[in-house]
Order: sequence, then structure tokens, then C-alpha cells
Amino acid sequence: MKLAGKVAIVTGTSPNIGAGIAQGLADEGATVVCVDLVPENAQECAAWIKSRGGEALGIACDVTDEAQVAAMVTRARETYRGVDILVNNAGILGGLSVLEMPLDRWTRQIAVNLTGAFLCTKHVGRLMVEQGRPGSIIVIVSTAGHQGQAGNIGYCTSKSGLLNFTRAAAMDLAKHRIRVNSLTPTATDSEEAAERAVAWGRQRPERRGGAMLDFRKMVPTGQLPSPRHYARAAVFLASDDAEMITGFDLRVDAGAIAKYWPWVPHAD
Ligand SMILES: NC(=O)c1ccc[n+]([C@@H]2O[C@H](COP(=O)([O-])OP(=O)(O)OC[C@H]3O[C@@H](n4cnc5c(N)ncnc54)[C@H](O)[C@@H]3O)[C@@H](O)[C@H]2O)c1
Repeated sequence: MKLAGKVAIVTGTSPNIGAGIAQGLADEGATVVCVDLVPENAQECAAWIKSRGGEALGIACDVTDEAQVAAMVTRARETYRGVDILVNNAGILGGLSVLEMPLDRWTRQIAVNLTGAFLCTKHVGRLMVEQGRPGSIIVIVSTAGHQGQAGNIGYCTSKSGLLNFTRAAAMDLAKHRIRVNSLTPTATDSEEAAERAVAWGRQRPERRGGAMLDFRKMVPTGQLPSPRHYARAAVFLASDDAEMITGFDLRVDAGAIAKYWPWVPHAD
């Protein structure tokens, strides 16, 4: 167990990537605080971890609201006497082009994806400094943060902002033995999230088949990552195995960003 005795906060614990990472951290012995704007996503993720023999707490919180974030961190500290790991995963996906994007939608997406990570890092970081023990903060980016995607201006902008947020926060916190790294997922196979949703007693979400098939043709491995693949990388970054790694971006993208752009590896 690589994370025995550690306490982790994971934000955005829908059955997809957040719950996949939360489950992966719990499987390595971490106690997990599951945080989400949607109370069911926080509570059902925590209940799921407990049903698998782990320890977890669900907290409803809007990561864009500083008072709610501060209260969430206080509750985690009071319940588990500290926090060792933070995974900034909450996010709003999708969007529109620069010509179409309404200001209120832009503002909300930037607030959740970028400011939410800032506020959680600020308050968990302060607690980690106060505790005086090492910590690991992981920021979930996207391949859309490394490249310009048409029709997704707010998402691409916020995710690329997170890449340098990670480096700058890593510099601020290095002297406190708090490491800050990002993890880059890409288009994600939807099967695992569907199975987890059903295990939580929800209806099986409709399969986003067409787009996923196209994405599979484009990645060198010919297979899209699942949340469990991100979870393994998050466990590594959170663990002492990564004790000399900070300010780094770990891509779990099936080779997507490394690929020479016009190459279609699986055309037929
Ligand atoms: N799904 C993908 O293919 C993919 C690819 C690359 C990166 N990512 C990134 O992974 C992360 C998770 O993506 P997902 O596909 O699991 O998305 P999702 O929509 O299933 O989950 C996002 C969660 O964040 C929560 N959330 C939204 N606003 C919030 C707020 N203000 N406060 C607290 N929680 C809030 C939502 O309620 C939801 O549970 C995101 O940061 C996303 O950008 C996803």
C-alpha cells in the first residue's frame, strides 16, 4: 500500500475521472475526502469507497467559493487530523468558439477550472504548511491544454493556464516540501465510468460511441485511457516514489501529444 495513512482530497467526483482517481488512491490505503458541487457525486463516491473497504467522507462544495473551500478544508482537517494529498480535478468540459462564447459561460468555466484549483491549492497548501509535513498536489489538465482545439476556447485557455499554475505553485511550495504536479488525461474510454455509475445505482449513461471511435484511430496506442490509468499515475505522483518530482506534467494520453500531427496511426 503506497498511500497508507495518507488523507487525500479529490474534487469533482463524478463516476468518471474523479471517482476513478479517488478509488485508485483508496485502493492504495488513502482516506479520501470526495468533494463535488453536486452533493450526490460527493456522497455516492464516498459511499462507494466505503463499500469497497476504504475510508471516505463526502462533502458538497463549490470550488469557486472561497468560504466553502475554506470550510471544506477545515472539515477534512477536523475529521482526519490533516490532509496530505489534493487532486484538483473538478472542471467544466466543452464549450464554444471564440466568436460564439457568451461572457457568463466563459467566466464560469475559467472560475471552476482555474480559480477552483487556485482556491483549493491555497487553502490545502496553507494547511499543509501549518501541519509541517510533506504534501502532494495534483492538477488535472487535458490534452486540450497543450493544443488549440476549435470550438473550445474557455476549456483550452483554462487548461493551459493550469500547466503554468502548476509550475508556479510548485515553486511557491517547494521550500515547504509540498510538491505540485499536473496530470494530463485525454479523450477517455467511457466504459469504466458507465460501469461505476451502474454500481452506484444510477442509470447507465448513453455511450458516446462515434466520437470515441474516431479518437481511437488517432492515438498511437489504438486504445483510449480509462480513469484507472489516470489513477495509477496519480498514485505515483502522490507517493514517496515521486519525492523528487515537482512542477512536472505527467501525460497519460496514449501518446496523443507526442504524435507527429498529420499521422493517423489506425486509419482503417
Ligand atoms: N473526460 C475526458 O475525456 C477528459 C479528458 C481530459 C481531461 N479531463 C479532465 O478531467 C476532469 C474530470 O473530467 P470528467 O470527464 O470526469 O468530468 P465530469 O463532468 O464527469 O466530472 C466533473 C465533476 O466536477 C464537478 N464540478 C463542476 N463544477 C464544480 C464546482 N464549481 N465545484 C465542485 N465541483 C464541480 C461536477 O459536478 C462533476 O462531478 C476535468 O478537469 C476534465 O477537464 C477529462
